[in-house]
Amino acid sequence: MQKYIVRGGRPLSGEVHISGAKNAAVAIIPAALLVDGVVRIENVPQISDVTVLLKILEQLGANVRLLNPTDVEIDCTHIHTTHVPQELAHKLRASYYLIGALLGRFGSAEVSMPGGCNFGGVRPIDQHVKGFAAMGATVREGDFIVANAEGGRMKGANIYLDVVSVGATMNIMMAAALAEGTTIIENAAKEPHIVDLANFLNLMGANIKGAGTDTIRIYGVDSLHGGAYAIIPDQIEAGTYMTAVAAAGGEVLLRGIIPKHMDCITAKLQEMGVEVVEEGDTLLIRRSGPLARTNVKTLPYPGFPTDMQPQITTVLALAQGTSIVTEGVWDNRYRYVGELTRMGAQIRVEGRTAVVEGVSHLTPATVQAFDLRAGAAMIVAALAATGTSEILNVQYIERGYEDIIGKLRSLGADIESVEYSDQEVAAPRQIG
Ligand code: EPZ
Repeated sequence: MQKYIVRGGRPLSGEVHISGAKNAAVAIIPAALLVDGVVRIENVPQISDVTVLLKILEQLGANVRLLNPTDVEIDCTHIHTTHVPQELAHKLRASYYLIGALLGRFGSAEVSMPGGCNFGGVRPIDQHVKGFAAMGATVREGDFIVANAEGGRMKGANIYLDVVSVGATMNIMMAAALAEGTTIIENAAKEPHIVDLANFLNLMGANIKGAGTDTIRIYGVDSLHGGAYAIIPDQIEAGTYMTAVAAAGGEVLLRGIIPKHMDCITAKLQEMGVEVVEEGDTLLIRRSGPLARTNVKTLPYPGFPTDMQPQITTVLALAQGTSIVTEGVWDNRYRYVGELTRMGAQIRVEGRTAVVEGVSHLTPATVQAFDLRAGAAMIVAALAATGTSEILNVQYIERGYEDIIGKLRSLGADIESVEYSDQEVAAPRQIG
């Protein structure tokens, strides 16, 4: 097992290139199953979730060719099974996209229940299932989700999502791309990766309108053809580096981003006294003075992203005064707070609200990454705390951040990944 050792307390400086978006990649790779031909996907982040998905596609019969570290060619012409075994599928939440993609192309799917980050509560997929059923599929839920389209092909339907769900929106889009007739998703999610998936599918011949608004129309087509597509930059990776600079201080230029996607995060950091300067596809982040308090509420896009909640809370822990953080998406996403308090943060959680009393500094400690973004928050905290911190369970972090050690080191951080035996520490308190 690996752990990170961080000797914090030094400001960050330099430039960092932002990788392709994880949550776009984990949908677009399964979407290649819909295509009868070769797709070339560029700007793919080098993270373990992507590696697992590519392995799953290979097991299904896809020909996967890595052209260079970030570009991959996938040919799903000769898929020989629609059964996705548990051993790989349970490793990531996004394996649920295989259901929509396989149903859409072959009219059947048998996918082990998805794993992935567990925030301590249930992560339901009832809205996905409701969408598939409306489109004429029978769906049985057990250890495996077994879904079959009536007559072997999905049928267009009107689907109103009871909750704004990123996963359900994308999964229904995939199931509908090759359906007979038109599908309308209402109360759809609007995240940048929704638009990215629609752009990918449209480039391959799909007819999807309205992605990025709350009504998406998918006019089913008979087949999709091959092509090349580049994934958008990762809003959350960029936001994580922004919070790292906010917490540790310094001046960093983020390259290769879409500034518009960062507005929700930029606005909050500016309220806290962090300087953010946008120019072209770059953002300059500078923090030298004290941090001011503010309130944050996470919401579906264009609101403040829930996947930035642990990181911004960590910065607020160092701000002057009392801040209120409200989690508007997930029921239980504050497990990491116990770890932060062990570093000296003063945070009280009441249901979906965290009351953060700012402290002047954090103290180093050995902490656990409970999930991907919680792990990122531990890094942000450790970079700000003068002294040596250790972060355990970093496999969660590596699911979603490309070369985080290398990138932070290039910014002057003293961080390294070292091997340790799991005998050295108590078993992790949560498995995602
Ligand atoms: C995606 O998860 C992301 N994961 C999550 O990022 C992210 O936190 C989340 O969207 C919200 O932005 C991937 O893209 C792989 P949802 P997803 O369906 O699609 C409820 C990260 O750190 N809901 O938008 O699973 C659900 O309980 C990960 O990168 C239902 O009730 O999230 C939640 O409260 C963690 N029924 C809310 O909707 C459903 O059928 C939003 O969930 C589906 C969801």
